Order: sequence, then C-alpha cells, then structure tokens
Amino acid sequence: MPKITNLNKAVFPVAGLGTRFLPATKAQPKEMLPVVDKPLIQYAVEEAYAAGIRHMIFVTGRNKRAIEDHFDTAYELENELEVAQKLELLKLVKSVQPQDMDCSYVRQPRSLGLGHAVLCAEHLVGNEPFAVLLADDLMVGPQDGQPVLAQMSAQFDRLKQSILAVQEVPAEHTRRYGIVAGEEMKDGLMKVNAMVEKPAPEAAPSRMGVAGRYILTPAVFRHIRNQPTGVGGEIQLTDGIASLMKEEAVYAFQYKGKRYDCGSKSGFLEATVELALQHPEVGENFRAYLKELKLG
Ligand code: G1P
Repeated sequence: MPKITNLNKAVFPVAGLGTRFLPATKAQPKEMLPVVDKPLIQYAVEEAYAAGIRHMIFVTGRNKRAIEDHFDTAYELENELEVAQKLELLKLVKSVQPQDMDCSYVRQPRSLGLGHAVLCAEHLVGNEPFAVLLADDLMVGPQDGQPVLAQMSAQFDRLKQSILAVQEVPAEHTRRYGIVAGEEMKDGLMKVNAMVEKPAPEAAPSRMGVAGRYILTPAVFRHIRNQPTGVGGEIQLTDGIASLMKEEAVYAFQYKGKRYDCGSKSGFLEATVELALQHPEVGENFRAYLKELKLG
C-alpha cells in the first residue's frame, strides 16, 4: 500500500450552473455570490487554508472566469490602492491570495455529476489524499474552536482513511443528501458501512446526512471511474465512496459548528443575517437595525 502523505490539496467543484439562483447567476458564478462581503468560494478556500492546505484545485466550467480572477493578482486595482495610499484595502485585496497558496484550474466540460467533477481533478491530485469542499455549504466552526475542515484533518492525521463530514438531518430531508450509517465510535466518529445518495425517507439507512466536506484517499478515483450513472443520471461521488468502502475504511465525522445551505435561497439568507451580526464592521449597527424591525 502506498504511503499516505499529509493533506495538502483541496478540490473545489465549481462548474455547477446555479439554476436555483437565477437570474443572479445568469452571467456570474453562484460561488461568487457574497455573504456580507466575501464570495462563497472564498469562505471555502479560507477553510481549506486554515486546515494547512496550500494547493487549491478548482474544477470550473464556462462562465466561471470570475473565480480565477478572484484568486489572481488584481494588478490595476492594487496599483491604484497603493498610489492612493489606501493600505488597509490593499492588504485586504492581497490577503485573498496568500503567497504560499497555489491555485490550479481544470474544466469539467459537461455537467455529469459531482463524482465526474472530482475525477476531472485526478491528474492534478495524483496519488495523494485530498479534501473536497462544496462552496454551497458554508461551514462556520464553533466560536472557540477550529473550522470544520481543520477538525477533520486532525482526525485524518490519526486515521489516515477517508472521512466525511456528517450532521443529523430531518427525516423529510433525506432526499437532499448522501446518507450514511455505521458503527458509532468515540469523538463523533462513525465507521461507515452503508452510504446512499438522496434516498427517500423510508429507504434511508439513517438520518446522518453528508455535508459538503470530504477528505478522501486517492483510491477513490478508481472507484468513481468504475461507477455507472446513479441518481439523477449523474456520476455520483457517493457511489464512488460506497464502492471504496469495500476496500478501505471510511469514517463519518460529526463536526462541531454550523452549516448553511447557501445553495438554497433561505439558507443563503440565514448565513447573511448571522454572519452580518458577527461582522466586526457592520455587526453592531445591523443588530440594532434588526431589533427595530417590526416583524408583523
Ligand atoms: C451533494 C452530494 C450529497 C451531499 C450534498 C451536501 O449534493 O451529492 O451527497 O449530501 O452535496 O451538500 P448536491 O447538494 O450537490 O445535490
């Protein structure tokens, strides 16, 4: 068995069309929609960076140029801010692209599913473990604790096997998630022995739903490649992981923190309100404003 190295790569599948946010996403990527003052994709990249990952791999598609520009040097903007001596803003702009962070981009030419998107990154990941972050799921760690992917990578350092972030979901929502079941262990871990993509409540093996954070061993690529199309006529990451489970242990981890489903309008609004309340610049005024609102 090849030596399992440290986690240094993250894959961001960002080729999706964002139909749930039309018309906002007609000409811009849904991952660039801002929650308060940062685009969704930046929250995910910062979470990966905080987990020690330095190589970010974006699986993009048509209309996604803004993501590449966001993580590139904005020469004219930086120059103007410097000339105007707006140094705080300059620092903010440069902080999006730390010097020790590398970004790579690969295209997913057709929407063939999440498993297919991850497979598009195989040649950039190589034979290493890697994280997958779905930017639609905005994850906020506990106030006094680590961000979610950092919690998972601490578990990975010990287990050296694939780990999926999970949370309990209402029975009527199992159709929205990959659902896992298995043997409970300590520290919020579970050894997974069943995994199904978007089952009906009566067919769901449990109510533990996968949130959009995964740490996977490279063996998963072979398993995804061998999958027939699954739910929704797509090549599902869930099916690839379910197949990997027959060969390697896969763990589910109940993270500490909160997930906002920013792929839905109401989740996006909840994230906006809660993150605005915590924001150092606007939080206080926004709280006062909300208190004054007459909610009929
Ligand atoms: C994807 C996965 C699903 C997972 C979910 C988390 O579904 O296929 O297993 O539970 O992300 O957000 P999607 O939301 O892209 O339909």
